[in-house]
Amino acid sequence: MRILTFSVLKNCKIKTSLFKSLSVQVQANNEIEKLSGIRTNKTNADPNLVDILPSWKEDEEVELRSTVLQHMRVLPNFVTEEEEAALLAEVEPQLKRMRYEFDHWDNAIEGFRETERSKWNEANSGVLARVRDVAFPPHAQLLPHAHVLDLAPAGHIRPHVDAVRFCGDTIAGLCLLSSAVMRLAHEQRPHLALDALLQRRCLYVMTGVARYEFSHAVLRGAEGAWRGAAVRRGRRVAVICRERPRAAPAP
Ligand code: OGA
Ligand code: MN
Repeated sequence: MRILTFSVLKNCKIKTSLFKSLSVQVQANNEIEKLSGIRTNKTNADPNLVDILPSWKEDEEVELRSTVLQHMRVLPNFVTEEEEAALLAEVEPQLKRMRYEFDHWDNAIEGFRETERSKWNEANSGVLARVRDVAFPPHAQLLPHAHVLDLAPAGHIRPHVDAVRFCGDTIAGLCLLSSAVMRLAHEQRPHLALDALLQRRCLYVMTGVARYEFSHAVLRGAEGAWRGAAVRRGRRVAVICRERPRAAPAP
């Protein structure tokens, strides 16, 4: 199953001209959406759950700041406790058969096990349909499976950008079992950074600039703090839906 993670994270630093043109296209799409208000009206994102870090000075890259705040959204209490339990019940038998992987110094992820799932029972399919509806543009094509990533209490994800070869514009993650802090940092100027508080049962949606120009990391328990208060990390399971990668243009 490690292949799965590596396929998504691999080559994350490579910036090809293809990537650059995709990025321009994404920005253009996002401008259109901004103007038409498609995304902002449809969701209950809470802007108080994303904080710019003090290293990003107020008068620095003001436009980028406002764009990244629109492109990284956190919707608290997206699923009920019952829905959380039902999702976990469906994936747990698969996860329990695997061991957490630690001690691979070169891994982007430490202390994890993972699987993917394309068939869900009726109730869980309903929840995932809600994710699709809220997080993705109407005609988006999603990967057929959701990625289920189980992080041990001491597990964490190092900064990376999901590989454009394996994942399209939008990434949406349901956060189950434990809260965590996700840190986004600009790829070239990492002091331009922000933290998102991902509370248990929230949905986060990362797209556009947040997805392509910033790395994201899920911090360890000891590093993750929110407005000065420690965020206790336990075992955390994320169910992540991704858009299909865009087709590469003909050479
Ligand atoms: C990933 C990732 C975030 C999460 O698998 O690429 O960044 O919420 N996961 O677990
Ligand atoms: Mn990722």
